[in-house]
Amino acid sequence: MSARLEADHLYKVFGRRQDQAVERLRAGADREELRADGTTAAVIDASFTVDPGQIFVVMGLSGSGKSTLLRMLNGLLEPTAGHVRFDGRDLTALGDRELREVRARKISMVFQHFALFPHRSVLDNAAYGLAVQGVPRAEREKRAARALELCGLAGWETSWPDELSGGMQQRVGLARALATDADLLLMDESFSALDPLIRRDMQDQLLTLQKTLKKTIVFITHDLNEAMRLGDRIAVMRDGRIVQNGTAEDILLRPADDYVASFIQDVDRSRVLTAGAVMDTSVTADAPLCRCETASPTTPFAELCAISARVPHRVSVVDGAGRLVGVVPRQRLLGFLGDETADPVPCDAPDGKVAAHA
Ligand SMILES: Nc1ncnc2c1ncn2[C@@H]1O[C@H](COP(=O)(O)OP(=O)(O)OP(=O)(O)O)[C@@H](O)[C@H]1O
Ligand SMILES: [Mg+2]
Repeated sequence: MSARLEADHLYKVFGRRQDQAVERLRAGADREELRADGTTAAVIDASFTVDPGQIFVVMGLSGSGKSTLLRMLNGLLEPTAGHVRFDGRDLTALGDRELREVRARKISMVFQHFALFPHRSVLDNAAYGLAVQGVPRAEREKRAARALELCGLAGWETSWPDELSGGMQQRVGLARALATDADLLLMDESFSALDPLIRRDMQDQLLTLQKTLKKTIVFITHDLNEAMRLGDRIAVMRDGRIVQNGTAEDILLRPADDYVASFIQDVDRSRVLTAGAVMDTSVTADAPLCRCETASPTTPFAELCAISARVPHRVSVVDGAGRLVGVVPRQRLLGFLGDETADPVPCDAPDGKVAAHA
């Protein structure tokens, strides 16, 4: 599968002598060294790919370069060095007109504080992107109404924005992005201004929409729980650089450094982990270790705990063909709820049916 979006060694430097700054960064200089000269290295050597239908989350502390990175992905900011490819086309090589065309039709952006037009109806607000594209009124109202319905706002078309709650206004923003049929959605802290319950609701709604619409989404957040709920992959940024790019499980079990580790302290591990991530794979055999209930590698952690409570000793994890791929002793399960990273307690001598120990 070819990538829908590719960032290839992207740099963005603000301030003086930008090309020289990139050379210094390539030679290993960091942000602080450049800052002394009045130059800000906002994004340093960022490379990643996003596959069609994926939600790619970028997270990091304030100032780490997330918004700058996102604005380079749709050409709002020109990279100081590097390339952005969208469906194989180099956005950095497009002229202004072509770029505006791609931005209007293929890429939509949803911001943190979505600015709705106060004197336009909810329907007109949702249809705004289509109006920019020059879609005739009847057609754009039909598509906007459909997008509002998808976002749970059917019946609000003729209301004014100030008659809606903050969460509903945010959903109008999402509807505006969806109405254009853009393949790529760029979402910058889109849910951060919402209170926790509504925020969770919006996350659920996005995941539900994503199941049918299968957009390609780059989602920015500074909240790791949100990142883990939404992200098929998560890139963690620090001081302009991507310090880790992996799945939620990778980040949780194998944090690349202390900075990433400090993020994961407050994460609810039981929501992220699956049997495949916590099992001990050094124990393999042709069949489950006992005839009792088994788990599969995708069994969620909470369900695994329930199975563990029902079976003696350990849970056998079996693949689709019924082969044993790992085991989870109860002790190991508990270890993962604490702050164990990968490979905690090894599995001690199992019963006689075990074929191999790594
Ligand atoms: N137009 C600009 N001119 C100069 N410096 C800028 C500009 N835009 C961003 N920066 C700097 O680049 C760095 C990264 O900013 P950016 O907005 O990308 O961070 P962020 O990760 O999105 O932060 P936040 O979570 O606060 O939104 C910051 O040090 C910022 O001051
Ligand atoms: Mg930002």
